[in-house]
Amino acid sequence: MKITVLGTGAGARCHTARLTELGHQVVVGTRDPQATLARTEPDMMGTPPYQDFHAAHPGIELRTFAEAADDGDLVINGIDGANAVQALSAIPRAALAGKTLVDYAVPYVYQQPDQVERPWPTPWGVMPRLEPVDTDSLAEQIQRALPDTKVVKAFVTQEQETVTHPKEFADGDHTTLLAGDHTDAKNAAGELLRAYGWRDIVDLGPLAAARGMEMYAHLHTAIGLALGTRFGVKIIR
Ligand SMILES: NC(=O)c1ccc[n+]([C@@H]2O[C@H](COP(=O)([O-])OP(=O)(O)OC[C@H]3O[C@@H](n4cnc5c(N)ncnc54)[C@H](OP(=O)(O)O)[C@@H]3O)[C@@H](O)[C@H]2O)c1
Repeated sequence: MKITVLGTGAGARCHTARLTELGHQVVVGTRDPQATLARTEPDMMGTPPYQDFHAAHPGIELRTFAEAADDGDLVINGIDGANAVQALSAIPRAALAGKTLVDYAVPYVYQQPDQVERPWPTPWGVMPRLEPVDTDSLAEQIQRALPDTKVVKAFVTQEQETVTHPKEFADGDHTTLLAGDHTDAKNAAGELLRAYGWRDIVDLGPLAAARGMEMYAHLHTAIGLALGTRFGVKIIR
């Protein structure tokens, strides 16, 4: 399948590499391909410049967000949560119409005056807040901005290394979650997850469940900081 990964961050690279390994044709979207390839410094989280990944994965096309979105049959959104709605809305609607868009972004807002001092893996070391939160979610905002696109919230409750390589933990015997208003799109996201190696995929129902999935990011990060390692969560029935 031709799959678009919108984003060049650490998480997006996990999907790009793994999907390519699985035999999919992947096209990556960025704001400005030339500028992205010209960067030589790591990003704020210490992720090496994209040019390193690009050189190590020859043949993966890097295009603008709009061109990449137009190219793929299924789209994964890995655009920074605070900028995702604006960036996705700028893509011509026809490029995304009728397509499944799997969104794993967290609507973190960094460097706000109301943030509490707390260990956090950013250069500022304070906990970001979520916006929207509680009565809305980023995934619902994206769905409202792209009414012709079928938005699924998935992948968001783990690091993307774990999402793309679930068997690293308990041979894959842990749980991942998805939500959305379109059954066929959720089936497509579930197929991708099964190809990655997931066996326990829980469908939380309508896209409104994305509120809880995004809010879980705070708890997930707190557990990760406490354990000092990536981890999986198993839902026992
Ligand atoms: N990494 C993970 O394991 C993980 C796990 C769960 C959830 N998430 C969430 O998923 C999202 C993506 O994470 P990530 O690690 O893949 O990448 P990221 O570093 O959070 O985001 C990088 C992407 O956001 C784009 N971007 C940044 N500012 C922008 C702006 N002003 N306008 C348009 N685009 C902008 C960048 O565009 P350029 O390509 O042009 O630089 C880049 O493609 C985040 O919200 C993150 O919190 C990540």
